[in-house]
Amino acid sequence: PQSVIFDTDPGIDDAMALYVLARHPAIRLRAITTVFGNAAVATTTRNALALAALYELELPVAAGAAGPLRPRQDQAFPAHVHGEDGLGGVGALVPAPRREVDGRPAHELICAMVNAEPGQITLVAVGPLTNLALALRHDPGIAAKVRQVVVMGGAFGTHGHGGNVSPVAEANIINDPEAADAVFAAAWPVVIVGLDVTQEVVMKHDDLAALKGRGGKQGAVGDFLWAATRHYQDFYHERDGIGGIYSHDASAAVYVAAPEAFGLRAGPVRVVLDGIARGQTIQDHQGLAAPDSPWAHSPAQQVCVRVDAARVLSEFTRLF
Ligand code: BDR
Ligand code: CA
Repeated sequence: PQSVIFDTDPGIDDAMALYVLARHPAIRLRAITTVFGNAAVATTTRNALALAALYELELPVAAGAAGPLRPRQDQAFPAHVHGEDGLGGVGALVPAPRREVDGRPAHELICAMVNAEPGQITLVAVGPLTNLALALRHDPGIAAKVRQVVVMGGAFGTHGHGGNVSPVAEANIINDPEAADAVFAAAWPVVIVGLDVTQEVVMKHDDLAALKGRGGKQGAVGDFLWAATRHYQDFYHERDGIGGIYSHDASAAVYVAAPEAFGLRAGPVRVVLDGIARGQTIQDHQGLAAPDSPWAHSPAQQVCVRVDAARVLSEFTRLF
């Protein structure tokens, strides 16, 4: 199985992704690192510890960045999407955190584990990319030692899906565009699982209802995910009328186990840092950039542009 460090801001779909990483036979989850995003980092860390207890995980959980690389005064959290508690208002249903948070900051834990097992560790990042950017700053040598980086983030407009925070920007990227640009520019292999594919993977109301009473002790995991997704589903229903939820972060987790369910496109990826398109992700998949342009120095990364949605959903539901 592939060894994974999960960098996350739980978050309802983060909780689903964590279950995939915790239970899929092709994956060995080694550590969780937390970041601000869907809620403040104190909240996402509390949620990560509580979810680790619910999923019966024995692994380090390290707290990471409280805000983006370029600090902002108006930091806000999307309570209208993930609830004040980050878990759809039902965080009280998860057990009290059973373990203490790791003493190291997230980026130091990442560097230590990668250096201890060069070539082995996959980073799955489904929140703002601040911790990964800090890890690269702390020890640029880790780029050559990471097996792959799988990111949920970005929107490349391939299926007519734009951004979800601005017309062009996706939430994880716009929460720290400078960090995302540094992560995509680094010399490690990145696979980007963005809105182009995650908004194609819709978990319907009935799929979610079928989880009730399944997974974990006495079905506690399915009961929790059903409850946690009620508010999230209403949000997407009002916005897009989809009668279900997009499986953003869980799709990135499934990519690790079943990459053949996705179609990839190669080329350097940059993030717009200024102006009205701040947070937009752009890939030069046609090799159009001039040799002296800022694109030319970026390595080719992979962007998911196609997905077998039924396969992704079945990789999730088979774990219950
Ligand atoms: C991403 O933003 C967060 O709200 C979700 O957890 C997901 O990682 C989707 O744009
Ligand atoms: Ca997330």
